[in-house]
Amino acid sequence: MSSKLEAIGIAKRYGDTTALEPTDLTVQAGEFLTLLGPSGSGKTTLLQMISGLVAPSAGRIEIDGRDVTHMEPGKRGIGMVFQSYALFPHMSVWDNVAYGLRMRRKTREEVRTAVDESLGMVRMTEFARRFPKELSGGQQQRIALARCFAYRPSVILLDEPLGALDKKLREHMQAEIRRLHKELGATFVYVTHDQDEALTLSDRICLMNQARVEQVGTPADLYDRPASRFAAGFIGHSNLLEGALDETRGASGEPILLAAGGRIPLPLGASIKPAARHTLLVRPEAPRLVEPQSGFVDGTISEVVFIGSDTRVQLAMSDGSALTVRCERSVSPRIGDRVGLVWDPYRTTLLHA
Ligand SMILES: Nc1ncnc2c1ncn2[C@@H]1O[C@H](COP(=O)(O)OP(=O)(O)OP(=O)(O)O)[C@@H](O)[C@H]1O
Ligand SMILES: [Mg+2]
Repeated sequence: MSSKLEAIGIAKRYGDTTALEPTDLTVQAGEFLTLLGPSGSGKTTLLQMISGLVAPSAGRIEIDGRDVTHMEPGKRGIGMVFQSYALFPHMSVWDNVAYGLRMRRKTREEVRTAVDESLGMVRMTEFARRFPKELSGGQQQRIALARCFAYRPSVILLDEPLGALDKKLREHMQAEIRRLHKELGATFVYVTHDQDEALTLSDRICLMNQARVEQVGTPADLYDRPASRFAAGFIGHSNLLEGALDETRGASGEPILLAAGGRIPLPLGASIKPAARHTLLVRPEAPRLVEPQSGFVDGTISEVVFIGSDTRVQLAMSDGSALTVRCERSVSPRIGDRVGLVWDPYRTTLLHA
């Protein structure tokens, strides 16, 4: 079961601090949406207003079209999982998972079925009799998830649930969370400041910065078409090149940016604002190395780093800027070599802010 979630003009102030500017956000039923952003950008504040743990200063929250802004947290049909698992130390795993169901006055039989099913989902059935202190961090986090899933909320809010785990376990748990999202079919709103985690998990990402939403879109939207410099810089590695538009157009009528000592064609039909300077983004995997003078721009190789699957090459451009390119391992660039760079113009994004 899943529900559609809507925040309409939701805002939060603490005295002089604006924790969240008025924000609109819709999460579709069954969607996995991630709130991504740097520390202090308002992610937890937004999540807690959805849950009802924090009262908004303005705006409202709707679940399936029903206004729940003033409804108690326990009545909203929402489950929450936090970074600190907050399991009851004196209760067994089984009792921890059963707790919420007993509070909801379910029958013995209902409790038993739901607890067994939830423990099965997080693959912890054989740990039912243990106590929290007898479990690893990852196992405790699974129990925290099972406890939340047990009463089948239609919306599940997760605030950095994997933050305390090491990298390997975190990656394993990310795969588990994806599986559980599919299995439960509930609407998930997930908070993280880890861009890789957001790209891996999400149907859509809501990128936040300084108490407001910067951009909402699929992982590919944010990576390929970032709406701002902030978005470009926060997700993936970005090469930003500054320059002025050429008066003349290219052979097919495409606009040309004079930047990094070369002529860089922009996509045909790129929307260009009248401005003296323009910034464009090109991701490191777009350019290919070619002979000097035969690409859009030339540069001198200043650094070559082997990163396993491929090689990361740093180039010094004639205008003093630096550009990073990822090359296949079959290419063997040498420091000091002069090379040209060429790429598909549709992989160039013009940034407007
Ligand atoms: N109870 C509070 N009283 C005063 N200011 C608060 C309170 N809670 C949050 N803030 C402020 O609101 C802003 C947003 O905080 P929030 O916790 O939503 O950030 P976040 O994006 O979750 O950050 P993090 O990644 O560090 O968890 C911050 O500047 C924070 O200091
Ligand atoms: Mg937070």
